[in-house]
Amino acid sequence: MRNQRTGLKICIKMLVILALAASTHADTITARNQTDRFLSLFSVVRFKNTGCTGSSGDSGTCYAKHTCLFNGGNLEGTCAGGFGHCCVTKIGCGGVSRNNCTYIESPGYPNTFSTAMTCKQTIMFNRDVCQLRLDVTEVDLAPPDNRGMCLEDVLTFSQDIKWSQVCGTTLNTHYYLDVDPDTSTKLDFDFNIGAGPYPRKWKIKVSQICCDQLSMAPMGCGQYFTSTTGTIKAWNTDSADRVYLHGQNYATCLRKEIDRCTITYTETMGDWFLPRCGDTLEFPFNIIQQNNPATGITCLGPGGVSPVLRPATASLQGPQQIYFVTGDGTNNHVDVGQNSNLDLEFSQGAC
Ligand SMILES: *[C@@H]1O[C@H](CO)[C@@H](O)[C@H](O)[C@H]1NC(C)=O
Ligand SMILES: *[C@@H]1O[C@H](CO)[C@@H](O)[C@H](O)[C@H]1NC(C)=O
Repeated sequence: MRNQRTGLKICIKMLVILALAASTHADTITARNQTDRFLSLFSVVRFKNTGCTGSSGDSGTCYAKHTCLFNGGNLEGTCAGGFGHCCVTKIGCGGVSRNNCTYIESPGYPNTFSTAMTCKQTIMFNRDVCQLRLDVTEVDLAPPDNRGMCLEDVLTFSQDIKWSQVCGTTLNTHYYLDVDPDTSTKLDFDFNIGAGPYPRKWKIKVSQICCDQLSMAPMGCGQYFTSTTGTIKAWNTDSADRVYLHGQNYATCLRKEIDRCTITYTETMGDWFLPRCGDTLEFPFNIIQQNNPATGITCLGPGGVSPVLRPATASLQGPQQIYFVTGDGTNNHVDVGQNSNLDLEFSQGAC
């Protein structure tokens, strides 16, 4: 009797210790063990909170049932050998989530709405998270004015200064926000929607990237590609007039892939995008000057150049960074030749 009690006490202590030792990115549950009733009634099962695909086709994270429900997620099938549940989390206006891979959605998504409102959606994260990756299914807000100012609708972020404002239409791409968990362990998406009749909607998946994670983008990279081909897209490249936005200040970064020695950039719109003088689009190896060797001027304006239709290829010696800084605020962004926004395909060639 005495021995049994001591055994039980040790067992309970072990449970507590194991629960405390569990990392913040793993869940610990106690499961009744049917096969070995006499030695241990309960066993501790610990599994990592890895990504999963829910029954709806949306992405989720494998969590214990109580972790998922407590944080406002939906159970969409099992994972971790049946001990975890694929937890798909979606938040609307006023929503707060600390689940990895949370979707932020507009009111009534996938329907559109057109009533004036402010809408705050908040992602909470742990101290070891340094970036949020936004996978944009769609962001469809009222377009900017001719100077790229978001006067009708605007999305702003409470951390990071890469984009001081976002509006217009952007589909099927990704962006990275750098966050500083020492300053604040939350990031607000603040949508300020005007009264105009534009039909709005948005859906963005927000993944939390740990500071020590290999897939972290280099700091300051608003887009980060780790593939041999892809499409670089600034915000608002999918609207009808494609006006580039004011208040952008970031780099698009491409990793040099194994056994790749050249890089070719091709305009999807048929001619090169050049911002107005006062704003900057800067390629490594002066790839735009290569297209316009005579002038060396890389912007449109008085004495500026005409965009040239051709793919540009350069040797690939290391990672590529393309800087896009739009700070003038008075420029008319509309009559920039045919092409008025940054939208480029790239392909890394063999050695
Ligand atoms: C249950 O007990 C058996 C026999 O001790 C063991 O092999 C099995 O891994 C246990 N199951 C769990 C979920 O701990
Ligand atoms: C969130 O999910 C992504 C994708 O599955 C994963 O790479 C990342 O490590 C996860 N973040 C945390 C904080 O667990």
